[in-house]
Amino acid sequence: MSDIVLETRGLTKRYGGVHALEDADFILRAGEHVAVVGDNGAGKSTFVRQVTAVEQKTSGQIFFDGREVEFADPLAAREAGIETVFQTLALADDLDVPSNLFLGRELFKWRFGPFSWLDRKAMRDRTLEALKTTAVKIPNVDNPIRNMSGGQRQCVSIARTAAFASKLVIMDEPTAALGVQETAQVETIIRGLKERGVPLILISHNLRQVFDLVDRIVVFRRGRIVASLRKDETDGNDIVSYITGVKGGADAVDA
Ligand SMILES: Nc1ncnc2c1ncn2[C@@H]1O[C@H](COP(=O)(O)OP(=O)(O)OP(=O)(O)O)[C@@H](O)[C@H]1O
Ligand SMILES: [Mg+2]
Repeated sequence: MSDIVLETRGLTKRYGGVHALEDADFILRAGEHVAVVGDNGAGKSTFVRQVTAVEQKTSGQIFFDGREVEFADPLAAREAGIETVFQTLALADDLDVPSNLFLGRELFKWRFGPFSWLDRKAMRDRTLEALKTTAVKIPNVDNPIRNMSGGQRQCVSIARTAAFASKLVIMDEPTAALGVQETAQVETIIRGLKERGVPLILISHNLRQVFDLVDRIVVFRRGRIVASLRKDETDGNDIVSYITGVKGGADAVDA
């Protein structure tokens, strides 16, 4: 059996004339932690949005968990086992923290046809547990998300990822808005995923973090994948050369 968790072949996304993602061939294997790096606008988030069906791809194929997939929407991707922390956070502003954690997979006391009774206490208890594992300090989980800081929101989203067993975790710049302690905490969560064998795609501009955490680094430049390097066969300078176009790709000289 193949150990490939996620594969994209020729994945392409255009917004009108903008070639945001061109012909991306990407492979992630069981248990592997891969970083996706690249300049602003390189196509990293676009890649994530196609894989998770936030948007529909222009062309190309996506294989997940042994079969070709065409997810209808992000919830379908999530139900298939892809848990994502989006760069622009997909949280419901009007809902409190437990409701956000369980959005799309609410716990019920009972369900009968269209009638159901939410199990608020169970959801609240599991939320407090999840926040404990992330050491996230949120003053009052019953407050709507709209009253929280950017960092607190980010932490809710990461707690959600850590709380549910999944087949693949994708984090798009999870620590960009976080303080020093919270960043360290998220890195601990990521190491926990590695120990549990949960594969990860980590988008980050922080090369220190990338080299600390992942097995392999994939570089995006102008919508294309220009390098895929094992951590032990590269270094920070090498990666920067690919990011800036000094190395790799036909447009390497025009920078
Ligand atoms: N909805 C959209 N409509 C038109 N162009 C878009 C849209 N979303 C993204 N783009 C363009 O696609 C390109 C890739 O954007 P993307 O958000 O994937 O970059 P990124 O690598 O995630 O950058 P960053 O590091 O800044 O988050 C950019 O040129 C961007 O302007
Ligand atoms: Mg982005």
